[in-house]
Amino acid sequence: MTLEVIRIRTQDELREALSIRRRVFIEEQAVDEAIEIDHHDGDPTVVTTCLHVLLLVDSTPVATGRLLLERDAAGHAHIGRVAVLPQHRGRGYGAVVMQELHDLAREQGISGITLAAQLHAIGFYESLGYVARGDVFQDANIDHRWMDLRFL
Ligand code: COA
Repeated sequence: MTLEVIRIRTQDELREALSIRRRVFIEEQAVDEAIEIDHHDGDPTVVTTCLHVLLLVDSTPVATGRLLLERDAAGHAHIGRVAVLPQHRGRGYGAVVMQELHDLAREQGISGITLAAQLHAIGFYESLGYVARGDVFQDANIDHRWMDLRFL
């Protein structure tokens, strides 16, 4: 089995990532398409606010995620849209995507990550060092909590 993590640079690669997100967020989780796909998902040769990652297993796209480059006052950026196709979960692929996004963030001089975690995914992010804070809030009709990771 071969794993290949792609830092997305072409529209074809982005199309594969969006196809995974459609399957996971729009079909599985019933998120409105108008919320799920946004201006950060434009042509990756043009959009400079966001970096996307795509994981291929034996050349098949199975997982994705994105890093928004805008920083908050603490120097943290935002990771979101982390998705693994249902039949490929529990094999470490989500963690591979996150590690690549963390590497990208460090290379950009970003000092940490803040993300909105769906409640069921809190254990996943905790396994990567994230710490939850604050109350539960709703985004796209799904319960979330904020989570933070400070890079050393
Ligand atoms: N609860 C607790 N721990 C979990 C977990 C969960 N729901 N899902 C994964 N983990 C743990 C694993 O046990 C593993 O721990 P380990 O390193 O100690 O072995 C670690 O997190 C990495 O798991 P991994 O196999 O890489 O996770 P995955 O490939 O199944 O991806 C998601 C996790 C959340 C990305 C995947 O379930 C998914 O795509 N869900 C639907 C989309 C979604 O909800 N995305 C998150 C939006 S905030």
